Amino acid sequence: MALIQWDKSLSIDVAVVDTQHKKLVDIINGLHDAMVQGKAKEVVGKVLNELISYTKTHFSMEEKYFDQFGYADTVAHKKEHADFIQKVADFKGKFDAGKMGVSLEVMTFLSDWLRKHIKGTDKKYVQLFHAKGLK
Ligand code: FEO
Repeated sequence: MALIQWDKSLSIDVAVVDTQHKKLVDIINGLHDAMVQGKAKEVVGKVLNELISYTKTHFSMEEKYFDQFGYADTVAHKKEHADFIQKVADFKGKFDAGKMGVSLEVMTFLSDWLRKHIKGTDKKYVQLFHAKGLK
């Protein structure tokens, strides 16, 4: 069973953002599946790289709109993004060095972080994005 189920509560009603959030959910679920199925380290490493790469793509898109629209909470939001990237990159470093594996604790951190960030932090910019015509 998928670790994160996409439902309406995760939608922020901005299509381009929802599409990217759904992809992040898919990647995290894929990582969870790889962990549960005991996939080889190279396979898990590939999914981790995909997660880091796509997370950066997604954060860059949001931040481009923050700059374009003059979003008031830009600094705090960008910091949350940077802290998350740092945390996942640290984990990947330990994973590559064989010091840490993908565990339920790691998966819980990733899924909880994403849910909380979407429902709390991301939802705060929706009104502005809608006002700027992005729906
Ligand atoms: Fe959708 Fe701020 O990440």
